[in-house]
Order: sequence, then structure tokens, then C-alpha cells
Amino acid sequence: MGKTILVVDDEIMITTTLSTLIRMVLKYNVQVYNDPVEALQSEELTHKKVDMIISDFMMPGMNGLEFLKKARDKYPDVVPILLTGYSDKENAIKSINEVGLYYYLEKPWDNNNLIKIIQNGLEKKDLSDSLKLRYMEIQQSHEEIERLYSLLKKDYQQEVDNARNLIISLANVIEAKDKYTDGHTRRVGVISRTLGEKLGLPEEKLQQLEISGTIHDIGKVGVSETILNKPGKLTEEEFDLMKKHAEIGENICKPLNCMQNCLDAIRHHHEKLNGSGYPDGLKGDEISQEARVIAVADIFDALYSKRPYRDKLPLDKVRNIMKEETADGCLDQDIVNSLFELLDLGKITDIFKD
Ligand SMILES: [Fe+2]
Repeated sequence: MGKTILVVDDEIMITTTLSTLIRMVLKYNVQVYNDPVEALQSEELTHKKVDMIISDFMMPGMNGLEFLKKARDKYPDVVPILLTGYSDKENAIKSINEVGLYYYLEKPWDNNNLIKIIQNGLEKKDLSDSLKLRYMEIQQSHEEIERLYSLLKKDYQQEVDNARNLIISLANVIEAKDKYTDGHTRRVGVISRTLGEKLGLPEEKLQQLEISGTIHDIGKVGVSETILNKPGKLTEEEFDLMKKHAEIGENICKPLNCMQNCLDAIRHHHEKLNGSGYPDGLKGDEISQEARVIAVADIFDALYSKRPYRDKLPLDKVRNIMKEETADGCLDQDIVNSLFELLDLGKITDIFKD
């Protein structure tokens, strides 16, 4: 697009010379004004269709600096150049910053020098315009990203809420089927999370623990109610069927994206450090920390809850049984210690109050 330059000088000879020079050498549009007030009201300035102003200093009605300052108030991106006589030089220098002058030229000027100054000034403006445009584009992209992010965040939160509701529903299925588990699933979720906090695990792991703990026994939907609700000891055959709940639970949750990080803990919550657990007989470090935490929470809750065939066990007895199981290599020593520390602080028994 062609450039437009405003030449403002009260001397017609100067405006004619300058405009002819610019038109011939640079082929730019030149608009000439011999009155600065008229130039200020010009269409070019009002509609910001001007790239550069070359103005004389000494003019009747308004001096060049005053004029350029007002012109830049109307259109700050215009490049201002001042033509000064030698005697005006001091004033011009003083006002360079105030007006934001790009250059001042002394009369009489050197044509080649003037052309170079005009070209440099307009190049600088082009660069500054494209930087501003880029900045605006980045700003717009940033706003768009912010908007999409907040939408995604909303969607994600909705997904999390849906997943949580789904988990609560699944846990309720177990509660309805197995009369031994009255409130057990919810408590194992909360105790597991509390243990995770005590162990210093990050929030992401704590959420996994709460979900896995709440839903760890979901596989019991695949076990007959006669076995689940049998008051006495299970036969070997019945126990084998009961043991399948860990794998069934994993298979139930496998298709759910939101449960992928919980599958391991659901499958392995009955593994024991000494390898005597099920379904895979994992040993020591082969068992994930999440599965070990849920195992501790699960056993504690089973011992400390009322069962149809017995009252809840006193805390001392629960502690002793858990100490024995730890000594036998069934439970993780550090996690059991953490549980005991939390019990000392009354933080676990609180969960049983409501
Ligand atoms: Fe279980």
C-alpha cells in the first residue's frame, strides 16, 4: 500500500519543493498544507490515513512542535519530522521527547539525507505496525486459549463429577448386596486418602486412593450373596469364589477411562508382602503403594466395624491383630505405623462417628 506524507509549512515554495521531491523520488502520496490548523482538521489525520508528517517549526498561529504534538494526540503512530531554522534548533532539541519527534532537520536540508530519513522513518513505522499487529494477534490467541481452557476446565470438572457420581453408584451396588459392608466402602476410601496424606502423597494420588478405596470391592457383585453373607467360615471352594472379586472388580472398571489409574489397586488390594495374598501372589515391592494402603485401610475397617456375628473390636485388639499381621509379612510396616500415628491423633476413629 502506498505511503502518505503530510507536508506542513506556511511557505508555499517549501511545500512545493518538498512534495515534488517526495513524489518524484519515493512515489509516495503527498498532501500539502500551508496552515497547521487546517492540517490538524485534515481528513488524512482524522482518519489516520497518514504515515508521516514533515512540519516546519515557525508557522503563524501554531508552531511546529505544538502542531506535531496535537497531531500525535490524534494519531500516535504517525512519524513526526520537524524542519527547523538554525535559530530554532535549541527549542526543537528540548521538545524531542515531549513530542516524540522522530527527527529534526535543519534548513536548508540535503535532499539525499532527507530521502534517507523519510525511508528509515517509514521502515521503522512498518516494523512497529507489524509488531503491534503481531502483539494483537498474540493477545487474541491468548484470550482464545483462556476461553477454551475455561471451557475445558468446566468440561473436565463435569467429567470428574460424573465419574465421582458413577463411583458412588457402583459402591452403593456393593453396599446393597453385601450386608457386611454397611458404610465400609466409603470409609475405606476416606481412610486410604487420610493415610495417603500422612505419607505425603500428591493430590493426584490422594484422589486415586479415595476412588480405589471406595470401589475396591466392586467385584463382589460377581460373587453370590450366599457366600458374601455367610456368617461363618467359608469353605475352601467358597473362598476361591470369593477371591475372584479382585479380578472381577478390575474387569468391571477397565472400560472406564476415569478408572485406569485405579485398576492396579482394585486388583491387588488382597496381595500380601510375603506373597501369600491373591489373585497374583505378588511379593514386597511388586505390590504398589496404593494397593498396600488400601489393604491396611480395608483390614482396619473390617476389624473396627460391627459385624452381624460380632461387635466391633476394641481399638487395642485391632492394633494387636494388625501388629501380628505386619510381623507375619502381610501388611506394610510404614503404612501400619502411619495408621497408628493417625489413631493416636484421633483422626481415623472420627471417620466412624457419622
Ligand atoms: Fe476385597
